[in-house]
Amino acid sequence: MKLNIDEYDMLDGKQGLAKQKAMELLVKYGEALGAERFIDTNNVHLFIGFHPYPEVVTPRDADDLVSKFLLDTDERIIVDRVKAFNTTHIWSMDLDNWQVMGAPESLHELMEVIRKYCIRVGISITATCTPYQIGNVPTKGEHCAWTESSAVPFCNAVLGACTNTETAHSAFAIALTGKVPLSGFHIGENRLGTRLINVGIDMDSVMEWNLLGYHTGKLCQLAVPVYKLNFEIVPNISMLKGLNAAGASSGGIMMYHIIGVTPEAPTMEVAFGRKKSKEVINYGKTERNQINEKLNSAKSDKVDLVNIGCPHYSLEQLRDVARLLEGKKIHNSINLWIWTSYQIKTIADRNGYTDIITEAGGHLLTDSCPLNTNLFPSGTRVVATDSAKHAHYAPAIAGVDVWFGTMDECIQSAVTGKWRGELKPKTYG
Ligand code: F3S
Repeated sequence: MKLNIDEYDMLDGKQGLAKQKAMELLVKYGEALGAERFIDTNNVHLFIGFHPYPEVVTPRDADDLVSKFLLDTDERIIVDRVKAFNTTHIWSMDLDNWQVMGAPESLHELMEVIRKYCIRVGISITATCTPYQIGNVPTKGEHCAWTESSAVPFCNAVLGACTNTETAHSAFAIALTGKVPLSGFHIGENRLGTRLINVGIDMDSVMEWNLLGYHTGKLCQLAVPVYKLNFEIVPNISMLKGLNAAGASSGGIMMYHIIGVTPEAPTMEVAFGRKKSKEVINYGKTERNQINEKLNSAKSDKVDLVNIGCPHYSLEQLRDVARLLEGKKIHNSINLWIWTSYQIKTIADRNGYTDIITEAGGHLLTDSCPLNTNLFPSGTRVVATDSAKHAHYAPAIAGVDVWFGTMDECIQSAVTGKWRGELKPKTYG
């Protein structure tokens, strides 16, 4: 890679040992990606604070821990300050209500060690998979370095900013140096569409966008889909969150376009540029029903856990949940876990939504999620969710069966203890 003077200085150790180690890693990373040079970034979504297996994380000294895990060295590196503005992806527990999740004390101690480290080195602890809901909103064309597969397409496709899917290690080194290899979705050409998705049904709910994303991810994997909607609708943030998370679960979609909606696709011609669609994929009732059938793996209508807020719920979604739960009590055999960021929860607290959820018998939890921690209430066999991402991963991670549906259906099952009293997912003929 060609380095400028600033980057050479970092590599030579003139700006300290931490930046030197980070730059060594980044040069190797950039070369592996085929990047010719670095570009500057001042927006990183880090993955730190997630060590869910405290028994294997032997160092209890944060500098040791970061050196080993994030800078890949046995040398003890003392980081002074990270350079780039940053937010953090989820942590291993709700930092305030970790006991509700069943998290062990040892994990809480580890989180405290990391929390103090973050404060010392200038890491903004946000602990959410939805940084764009709590104020990290990069502008069109801004170069970023984000972790979290569901957030990456939000950054690229919805906001028009530029990021690849970074790892815990690459994101930390990028935050330290403010340098990201020029590759992948930082290059305009790579952002152009490569598959046309002809959407022939009405996409009027969050559930429908989850199903569409899941279908597309499965068929397109790492391609750049261009959605052509045949019914007029402007998707809201909840719908796009569902599309993004689902497409990054069944596949690895990091960038897409919706003609007439997303910022780099005012027209089909602009979305594809000089590229042509390698394939046209039709999405209609048959495809939609097949995906819905696949995501509903449960056989028993008895539900143990209703888990919603994947990706973390927005304020609007919490308002809707509170309205559905108002004056109701959840069934005594059910756990209801609702996930959001602690910043959004603070607003929910002020608006009485948290009280409504708590009085109904549910828990509004923050900072984390059971799919990543594998902390489910003991005895959980059947989970109901409104997230295709959760429905995709939960059977393999936790050995549970899943009902997938709308928020309304999830809340109904929390109240009755049963998945709509039926054993089959709804199909549209
Ligand atoms: Fe967020 Fe966890 Fe879902 S990190 S996207 S709530 S799997």
